[in-house]
Amino acid sequence: MKCIFLLSGEDLDMARDEVMALAGTEDHWMFDNVLVLDADFRFDRLSLTRKVYQHLFECSYADLDRMMAEYDWKKVYRNHFSLRIINLGPVKLPDKEALLAKHIWNKVREPRVDLKHAKTKIEIIVTGEKIFVGLVKKDINNEFSKRRPNTRPGRHPTTISPKLAKACINLTGIPVGKVLVDPFCGTGGIMIEGGLMRFNTIGYDISEKMLKMCHRNLDYFLIKRFRIEIQDATTLRNLLDYVVTDLPYGKSSKITDKLELLYADFLKTLENILRYKAVIIFPNSIDYLALLNKTGFVVEKTYNVYVHKSLSRNIVLISKPNKED
Ligand SMILES: C[S@@+](CC[C@H](N)C(=O)[O-])C[C@H]1O[C@@H](n2cnc3c(N)ncnc32)[C@H](O)[C@@H]1O
Repeated sequence: MKCIFLLSGEDLDMARDEVMALAGTEDHWMFDNVLVLDADFRFDRLSLTRKVYQHLFECSYADLDRMMAEYDWKKVYRNHFSLRIINLGPVKLPDKEALLAKHIWNKVREPRVDLKHAKTKIEIIVTGEKIFVGLVKKDINNEFSKRRPNTRPGRHPTTISPKLAKACINLTGIPVGKVLVDPFCGTGGIMIEGGLMRFNTIGYDISEKMLKMCHRNLDYFLIKRFRIEIQDATTLRNLLDYVVTDLPYGKSSKITDKLELLYADFLKTLENILRYKAVIIFPNSIDYLALLNKTGFVVEKTYNVYVHKSLSRNIVLISKPNKED
């Protein structure tokens, strides 16, 4: 189905790539925070998208009235409808909802308007380039504020936000039924999101204290299908399907040197055991490309995410090279 995705706007590249990874296509059209592509997956998996629509048609500002009059609204109409205009671009469509709604009213049998609970929610999205008309398929509410790291029973100052954790999981494109692994799981921020998305998750950490907090957090969110083990991530031997992990870090150069060795060891280990894709979160003090260039991984995407004044992170999607290449 051709869909319109209204992206949430913090990091548009990541938001677009999250959708493309789950849709399994790179073929898309994008303008500002509106992305159009063919997709068929559970839209509530998305982290950085606010709304998903079935694409009905697109047109210029001048053609909107005619297109609204010509569209066969019976094809999509159920029970009652609402119509909203969403102005995103510099050109604003004036409040013409009532006038435009008449076209729907005139085309369907027993028309009814319900502005609050309409079964057929039509929205007209006005971008700086063209107008899209869509039928709302999913209004995504991730309720991230209920999972803010400082509200969990087990806390760690460097835990990434649930929104970022969920987006990173999706960037791997992990399909239903595969196992998500975090080899440096800490208090479980990534495992919580993975568990809520109904993946079986496995977490490893070298610190027993962290694993205890991780267990408490997973219990707190009623997540059942997980395993956590005390384990040095550089000595893992079993095959891992999909990995999302936030590497340990520190700021002094002494620590940074030690960390580089740890990262290099871990990447060497991961090269032998990763089956599909991984998202690795590096502190920006580390030359992650130099480290990855010493491995056989393909760097598919990189995103720089600002955390606060003295901390930003490089989020890197890696995969094994295609055997046929
Ligand atoms: C940045 S924290 C992970 C934060 C985590 N995402 C969370 O939500 O709390 C990195 C974790 O790596 C763990 N760690 C450090 N060295 C390790 C190693 N060699 N193997 C496994 N875990 C290790 C630390 O104990 C720490 O919990």
